Amino acid sequence: MNLILLGPPGAGKGTQAARLESLYGLKQLSTGDMLRAAVASGSALGQEVKGIMERGELVSDAIIVRMIADRITAPDCKDGFILDGFPRTVGQAEALDRMLAEKGLKLDHVIELKVDDSALVARISGRFSCAKCGAGYHDTNRRPRKDGVCDACGGTEFVRRKDDNAETVATRLKAYHAQTAPLLPYYQGRGALKSVDGMAAIDDVAQALDKIIGKGGK
Ligand code: AP5
Repeated sequence: MNLILLGPPGAGKGTQAARLESLYGLKQLSTGDMLRAAVASGSALGQEVKGIMERGELVSDAIIVRMIADRITAPDCKDGFILDGFPRTVGQAEALDRMLAEKGLKLDHVIELKVDDSALVARISGRFSCAKCGAGYHDTNRRPRKDGVCDACGGTEFVRRKDDNAETVATRLKAYHAQTAPLLPYYQGRGALKSVDGMAAIDDVAQALDKIIGKGGK
C-alpha cells in the first residue's frame, strides 16, 4: 500500500507516519528527514540546502524529485511507502505521477491532515525528539513516560529542530499555502483525496487513519 500524508508544518504527518510504519510495515519516506541527514553529513547536497531550510523556504523540485526517485523502489519499500512531506508542489506531484507510472506503482490513498494555522505554532515550538532514535515528543501534548528518558530506546539526549522557531514557521506556513495547498484540488479532482481532522488528539487521528487504510495492523 502506498500513501501520501499531506498537511501543513506541524500537522502531525511525521507522528502518524512513524506509527503507520511500525504498525503496518510501510516505509516512511520523509523528505525533511532525508534533507536534515544530508545537512548533518556535510555533503554537497547538505551544504546546498542548509540555508534554504533554515529560512523555511522550499528546496527545488529537481533536487527533491531526484532524491525520492531512488527511494520508492528500494527493497525496504517492497510492502509500500508513506510519503511524508512530499509532494509539496504541483511540479513534484506531476513528477511523482510519472515516476509511479514508469515503475508500475500506484497510490492507494492521499490523506490530508487538516489543522488550523493557529494550532501549528504551538505544536512546532513544543516539539523535540530523541537524539538517538528520532522518536518525536512534545512539551505538553506528548511527553516521554519518564521525564528525560526516551520511551522507544531509553536515550537521554533530546534535540530541537533549527527551523522550529516562530520566524521560520511563518515562512513555512506561507510556503504551504502558496505552493502545497494547490495539491488538495489536484488530488481531489481525481477523487483520490481523503481528509482527517488533524485537530483531534493524536490517538483519535490515528484511529481515523486506520479506518481509511482499513487494516488491523501486521
Ligand atoms: P519537513 O521536515 O517536511 O517539515 P514540515 O512539513 O514543515 O513538517 P513538520 O515535520 O514540521 O510537521 P509534521 O506534520 O511532521 O508534524 P509532527 O508530526 O512532527 O520539512 C522541513 C523543510 O525541509 C522544509 O521547510 C523545506 O525547506 C524542506 N523540504 C522538505 N520536503 C520538501 C519538499 N518535498 N520540497 C521542498 N522542500 C522540502 O508534529 C508536530 C508536533 O505536534 C509534535 O511535537 C507532535 O508530538 C505534536 N502533534 C502531532 N499530532 C498532534 C495532535 N493531533 N495533537 C496535538 N499535538 C500533536
